[in-house]
Amino acid sequence: MVGNSAYPSGGGVSGTGVGAGRPPSDRRPQPSGTPFSNFRSIVDPSGALNFGGKAVLHGSGVDFSNGSSFAINMGEFRLDEELGRGNYGAVKKVLHKPTNVVMAMKEIRVELDGGKLNAIIMELDILHRAVAPEILEFYGAFFIESCVYYCMEYMDAGSLEQLQHDGIVEPVLARITQSMVRGLKFLKDELQVMHRDVKPTNVLVNRKGEVKLCDFGVSGQLERSLAKTNIGCQSYMAPERIHGESQNNLGTYTVSSDVWSLGLSIVELAMGKYPYPPETYSNVFAQLTAIVHGPSPALPDGFSPSAVSFVEACLMKEPPKRATYAELLDHPFLVEDRTREVDMVGWVVSAMAPREARRETPRVSQSTLTIPAMPKNRN
Ligand SMILES: Nc1ncnc2c1ncn2[C@@H]1O[C@H](COP(=O)(O)OP(=O)(O)OP(=O)(O)O)[C@@H](O)[C@H]1O
Ligand SMILES: [Mg+2]
Repeated sequence: MVGNSAYPSGGGVSGTGVGAGRPPSDRRPQPSGTPFSNFRSIVDPSGALNFGGKAVLHGSGVDFSNGSSFAINMGEFRLDEELGRGNYGAVKKVLHKPTNVVMAMKEIRVELDGGKLNAIIMELDILHRAVAPEILEFYGAFFIESCVYYCMEYMDAGSLEQLQHDGIVEPVLARITQSMVRGLKFLKDELQVMHRDVKPTNVLVNRKGEVKLCDFGVSGQLERSLAKTNIGCQSYMAPERIHGESQNNLGTYTVSSDVWSLGLSIVELAMGKYPYPPETYSNVFAQLTAIVHGPSPALPDGFSPSAVSFVEACLMKEPPKRATYAELLDHPFLVEDRTREVDMVGWVVSAMAPREARRETPRVSQSTLTIPAMPKNRN
């Protein structure tokens, strides 16, 4: 499963594109004297970020010590529309001109702190090894000034949050869950990593009906370090994690915390809304208290007993009682899914219809537009 090429698996890639595996000597050094120059242990004289010989991140990509190289730089892109905005920046649709591949580019402002930069490189390393059908493909990263830019596979139907509307029907929900569990199991078994940020906005879908996990890597790590003081009003954190963070004990995260977030995401997708709606709590503290001490959420009426029991197995309050990924894959909810035909492509089309309709809403025709008078020059 481990790949060292950053070539997108979809068609249309040719020539000297992204991650063409060029040797590091091919890199054009960045001018010295960047804002990173106080960080000599990390920033080498060329201005690139050097992570203990494990990888080098610079203006034209990232080189890993195993020889794989993800060559990519800003000049090669045509910037397109904004796809969405998270807490820490925007994700843009971009065209990578040399290869004609459409990608998604996420900008993250980094603070000059060795720990954070180390987290970035650890996660870049994970990202470039994470090649699986249920994991969003990573094409490369580069850095300019104090921003790291991550380039990844563009998912043309967006995130599950944009597709869930009033709730997702059971067969589609089961298929989505199947992909999520497989993706999480892959990360754990093959790469020994936990996701740590499972939620509907981090599960992306394309028009082929494929479902992929993202943001378990660099951005997740960074966002978490920035987010510590701002848990936000939609927390997918497991009760033990919320409790642990409130005691400043960050060692409470185990793989079963991801299983909680998975269960909570499934309930949200089934209901079409976050299961602890902020409007029912007087403040964030009351909401977090409900997560830690209240009963676990459950699927709404109308779902099969196997779906209900699957979610219960994810949302046990005590972490050791939660199911493992192997148990979840053997659960009737997912076993039944593997025997069923599910029209994921048709579902994506219908779930995207409202968005498409908004896009196509006719604008006022040019002929009826009144052209406002030019403002007088006030100077
Ligand atoms: N590869 C991609 N293809 C298509 N759309 C994407 C892609 N990556 C992100 N998006 C869109 O951009 C939005 C913003 O993503 P981002 O990861 O910055 O924040 P988030 O996951 O929504 O929230 P948070 O900041 O809490 O993590 C997503 O909700 C999704 O709709
Ligand atoms: Mg995200």
